[in-house]
Amino acid sequence: MLMKNTTNYLRFGLFHRFSHFLIIISFFGLVLTGMPLAFRSYGWARWLYEMFGGYPTAGYIHRICALITFFAAFLHFAFLFVCVSVKKQKGYFWGVDSLLIQPRDIFDIIADIKWFMGVGKRPNFDRWIYWEKFEYLSLMWGTLVMAVTGIILWFPAQFTKIVPVAVASIIDVPSIALIVHRYEAILAAGFIFSIHFFHTHLLPEKMPVDEAIFTGKITEAEFKHERLIQFNRLEKQKDLESYRVAPSSLFVSFLTRLFAVPILITGLIMVGLMFSALLVWAI
Ligand code: HEM
Repeated sequence: MLMKNTTNYLRFGLFHRFSHFLIIISFFGLVLTGMPLAFRSYGWARWLYEMFGGYPTAGYIHRICALITFFAAFLHFAFLFVCVSVKKQKGYFWGVDSLLIQPRDIFDIIADIKWFMGVGKRPNFDRWIYWEKFEYLSLMWGTLVMAVTGIILWFPAQFTKIVPVAVASIIDVPSIALIVHRYEAILAAGFIFSIHFFHTHLLPEKMPVDEAIFTGKITEAEFKHERLIQFNRLEKQKDLESYRVAPSSLFVSFLTRLFAVPILITGLIMVGLMFSALLVWAI
């Protein structure tokens, strides 16, 4: 929602916005060049593959996007290393600022379920809501699985040489890697393009895009509505002012939408095509 002339606070710094940008670009490239192979018997898949240059160009694009993913993962862990080991900053693994699951998240899930069922009040959350933590952890896990299986598919001959003969004679590692890569890809793309899109960008109050991950800023109303506990804590600690930033201009909001809306539409079309193909397989 465009709400200018409001009090704004910084939620995401430049580093995290840049990292998310790298993930958007690489993930889309990987999905758009990978899915046509998984659904190769469909006309739309063959058309999409040709749009990306067909064989072998689409495969090169897939590998370049994989390298961008590796770079984003490297940046993330280098950032963590510098913050934790060099700067000795606390709170990355435990506490309100941590993205790892904490006991409080269990109570938040229970409170949220009660609210959904109409038997409790809407819970207030802290800096990271439990579903954001699950998304972060599934990104970590998913990237690891896709990277390991993807590298096996990339270098099958070299990989076969390092697998002991005793193992290779029982288990066909590249075939297993292909199955895992394919279905984890469908799961990841299906999740991102439906659940992630809907509960971040496509909520009625955010439509058509939640600008926070692009501009880094949220309004005071959004802050209080989504993360009241963090807002109150920062206010009590007299830290709130240090997060205050100028609202983004209408031009920046326009550019954000120009970039994000086509991506959201592409993702929704992809999940629709994938889902309809899976339904046909199931029937
Ligand atoms: C992150 C590291 C990744 C690497 C190194 C990698 C590598 C590969 C390679 C080498 C192939 C074989 C096809 C070809 O030669 O073009 C492949 C296929 C594929 N990739 Fe990836 N990939 C990665 C991530 C992803 C991601 C994140 C997705 C989607 C969410 C994805 C979706 C697919 C799909 C659907 C296929 C086709 C599998 C099939 O034939 O059914 N990949 N990938």
